[in-house]
Amino acid sequence: MALKILVTGGTGYIGSHTVVELQQSGYEVIIVDDLSNSEKATVNNIEQITGIRPHFEQFDLTDRNKTHDFFKRNPEIAAIIHFAAAKAVGESVQMPLHYYRNNIVSLMNLLECQIEYQVPNIVFSSSCTVYGQPEVLPVTEQTPRLEPESPYGNTKRISEDILRDTIKANPGLKGIALRYFNPVGAHDSALIGELPRGVPGNLVPFITQTAAGIREELSVFGDDYDTPDGSAIRDFIHVVDLAKAHVVAINRLTGNGNKEAYEVFNLGTGNGVSVLELVHTFRKVTGVDLKFKIVGRRAGDIEKIWADTSYANEELGWKAEKTLEETLLSAWNWEKNIRGIQ
Ligand code: UD1
Repeated sequence: MALKILVTGGTGYIGSHTVVELQQSGYEVIIVDDLSNSEKATVNNIEQITGIRPHFEQFDLTDRNKTHDFFKRNPEIAAIIHFAAAKAVGESVQMPLHYYRNNIVSLMNLLECQIEYQVPNIVFSSSCTVYGQPEVLPVTEQTPRLEPESPYGNTKRISEDILRDTIKANPGLKGIALRYFNPVGAHDSALIGELPRGVPGNLVPFITQTAAGIREELSVFGDDYDTPDGSAIRDFIHVVDLAKAHVVAINRLTGNGNKEAYEVFNLGTGNGVSVLELVHTFRKVTGVDLKFKIVGRRAGDIEKIWADTSYANEELGWKAEKTLEETLLSAWNWEKNIRGIQ
């Protein structure tokens, strides 16, 4: 019998790619999503890729009664992957209470239900944002976490602590926090990908929308950083590589292969790439003459960060495999598909 995995936020960007990889690895998936930042049609697209329709329920995990009711009706869940969260850094500065309620209360409701209904395993979506601007690069899992720059970042830090403390107090519970660097790209089928609402805040969706003619030109935020070309450096990881790491984390927890009850892993490629390098690579692989201009730095941005992935590589036996070229091409193919561009 296939193990059942609850994927919260499973119609979202990273969630949908993870659902595909889980199904293709033989897991049965139930998605819970409130569709506040994703589309129901994604369920159809997942089914088109895998041939299996994931179960889907729409509700808000901050609703304690609905969350309890869900677990009462679904007693046989082996593990949870908790993606459902708000993630816009700028918006979180404007609406801190929304971010704290949405991101923290949902996790607390899930953990409470895990204890009550004996669901032993959880994988949590964390972020490299917990490191702030580190003094030493690349960052390992031991790099100290710094005071977060935004309420969004703080929800990730607090959530990690809630998870760690709850696991410590409950011997039946095990969890893995995955700290993502910058997820980009889309599934090879171009049937699922990132679907930002409104003007994209993130770099790659803004680039693909500019290439598609939806945006006038890309603004590159800052060329006076202490980096080789002056633009900021990030670790851009293909979303499918990231999704595969979740399957490995689920295998580890459900197979009791974890070393500690609470573990943390960095998920990146290990390569730092500058914003300008990424822009030039996009132009080269797509042949699109992307318009861009250099403007001032964006408030709250850090200068440079990339991952030391050796712990994930050795302990999980997982490694990011896709090149930056493949990754950017997949993002462009997805954008072309949803815009009907040949
Ligand atoms: C941020 C968060 C990350 C979060 C992610 C999701 C931090 C440090 N990182 O990533 O935790 O998960 O958002 O939303 O808070 N850029 C441009 N022009 C643009 C857009 C971006 O030059 O139009 C630059 C940015 O200044 C930055 C780089 O591209 O240097 C990447 O930006 P972005 O894609 O927004 O991701 P982060 O800010 O790294």
